[in-house]
Amino acid sequence: NNKFTTQSFFKAKENKEKITMLTAYDYSMAQLVDNSGIDAVLVGDSVGMVMQGHDSTLQVTMEDMIYHSQCVARGLKHALLVTDLPFLSYHVSIEEAVRNAGQLIQQGHAEAVKLEGGQNMAATVKAIVNAQIPVMGHIGLTPQSVNIFGGFKVQGKEEITAQNLINDALALEAAGAFSIVLEAVPEALAKLITEKLHIPTIGIGGGRYCDGQILVINDILGMYSDFTPKFVKKYANLNIDINTAVTTYISDVKNSEFPKPEHTFGIKDSVLDKLY
Ligand code: KIV
Ligand code: NA
Repeated sequence: NNKFTTQSFFKAKENKEKITMLTAYDYSMAQLVDNSGIDAVLVGDSVGMVMQGHDSTLQVTMEDMIYHSQCVARGLKHALLVTDLPFLSYHVSIEEAVRNAGQLIQQGHAEAVKLEGGQNMAATVKAIVNAQIPVMGHIGLTPQSVNIFGGFKVQGKEEITAQNLINDALALEAAGAFSIVLEAVPEALAKLITEKLHIPTIGIGGGRYCDGQILVINDILGMYSDFTPKFVKKYANLNIDINTAVTTYISDVKNSEFPKPEHTFGIKDSVLDKLY
């Protein structure tokens, strides 16, 4: 049994084995990345941008996250399923945060939840972990803070903000988080945080020294072009493949090249005769 669990996260850091993560939002893609051997899959609230077409993650609801989490869960056999707590689902009160985290597990079939924030979320993380729900932290460029940051900007470049991120990471570890995403922070700072922590760090724009990496699946496949951050590496250009497939389909239909006999269903002549 090669099921990846939160315990596997700790073992991977111990053994200096890199942890691989990608996002997924639907059954088919979940099955594809799981079959390829990914360690963990995140149903990210990036669903709001790449699936729903919003220009931030702030419009995503608990209902959306439960729906996508359910779809992805059906596609996974090996990978750990982590689902994002969306904006406003954990900010109003700790009680609401625990209930919503529980819903992602109970209805969304997630195995862990992720939330954005550091020291300000330590008590919330502790309460969720107390409910026996593993929590992944997320600090640095936290997209739900876009209106406070004034855009999607690299975080922790000054001494005060960098020290603050170190304190955030330590607070999340102390609160019981099993791992922390470091998004868009200087490589050397991510390295320092990774060395200070016993739990693994997962980088996205966090550089080479994180314990693992995560990227948005639509970004690496070249299927989302509204905005491509510097930290993305494109491993495919499915936009080109899809464009070729769709334009060929259109011209095939227009020119009666599709469908061919092999794509059609037959009927007995004796039956057909009676219809004429
Ligand atoms: O929502 C998301 O996809 C994320 C990551 C890319 C870390 O939070
Ligand atoms: Na997210």
